[in-house]
Amino acid sequence: MGKTYNVAVIPGDGTGPEVIAEGIKVLNACSSKLNFKINYTFYDVGGERYLKTGETLPDSVLLELKKHDAIYLGAVGHPDVKPGILEKGILLRIRFELDQYINLRPVKLYEGVETPIKNKGPNHINFTVIRENTEGLYAGSGGFLRKGTPDEIAVQESINTRKGVERCIRFAFEYTRKKGRYKKLTLCGKTNVLTYAFDLWERVFNEVSREYPDIETDYAHVDAICMWMVKNPEWFDVIVTDNMFGDIITDLGAIIQGGLGIAAGGNINPEGVSMFEPMGGSAPKYAGRNMINPLAAILAGAMMLENLGEEKGAGLIEEAVKKAVKENIKSLEAGKMGMGTKEVGDLIAKYVSDSPV
Ligand code: IPM
Ligand code: MN
Repeated sequence: MGKTYNVAVIPGDGTGPEVIAEGIKVLNACSSKLNFKINYTFYDVGGERYLKTGETLPDSVLLELKKHDAIYLGAVGHPDVKPGILEKGILLRIRFELDQYINLRPVKLYEGVETPIKNKGPNHINFTVIRENTEGLYAGSGGFLRKGTPDEIAVQESINTRKGVERCIRFAFEYTRKKGRYKKLTLCGKTNVLTYAFDLWERVFNEVSREYPDIETDYAHVDAICMWMVKNPEWFDVIVTDNMFGDIITDLGAIIQGGLGIAAGGNINPEGVSMFEPMGGSAPKYAGRNMINPLAAILAGAMMLENLGEEKGAGLIEEAVKKAVKENIKSLEAGKMGMGTKEVGDLIAKYVSDSPV
């Protein structure tokens, strides 16, 4: 018997529990094949609990999450809860409190998946965005003055610490060296306008780059990157950027790789507990209908295995997904897959079990 891992699961709201169930099905197929074990502990935080008790993420749960090897998250978001409460109270709180300072988002188009970009295929759309995940505009610095009056002022500051910027950039260089397709790292910023924040980013990027002579470096403004991601996505290998820009360009990334049905992300603390999630939201209108696409959650599970050191298992799952999108799944959109949520999970689990190792 191989290793045992303790994973905290937050299925969350809407379609979260359905996609997480398929993810676990696939992870279990993988662990029995490769002889490791995963113990799952479920936590019911989310919109329902908030509506019942007023709690978002109790301190006691946070404390328990910290004791696990990884966290597997479905989705938080509830139609009866005001936007911001669950996002800040659960998702962002976990990212911050567990110091998950990297948001890792692969943008990979698989064969057989449709992209809205004309004449581009899997060879063109295959890069990774590394988003800083604990600072910037997300840090929560700012406030109101004279709120509710005609003289109201709202300030929201972007916090960029030398330490936070440097650890993110270092992670990006290491990642490019280890996993980059052609060892090129692009800094995405806005040095022509945000002359304090991105001055710091650019200086640190250039300093750290001297330690990585094997990595080609490049710079692009965030607005320009939005154009190039559409026109010439093949230019990119690894992109590193701040929290807000990373949030925006990874939605663009998700759509060019086939949509939220297949886009997965990792919130990584390389020295601590990381959390893996499908990028799509809770999609309440599809909840309980066996319609939602579980592939993003399944791929988030693969990212989790890789992070736990089960690279082989991660590879098996990715190959199974590739085969299914090429041969069986009609479309990645909810309700148009040609099969249900559970059937997609069954199929991927079967491909994992049947794969030669
Ligand atoms: C994401 C999401 C979150 C973010 C929201 C739900 C708070 O959009 O993970 O990209 O803005 O980071
Ligand atoms: Mn986002």
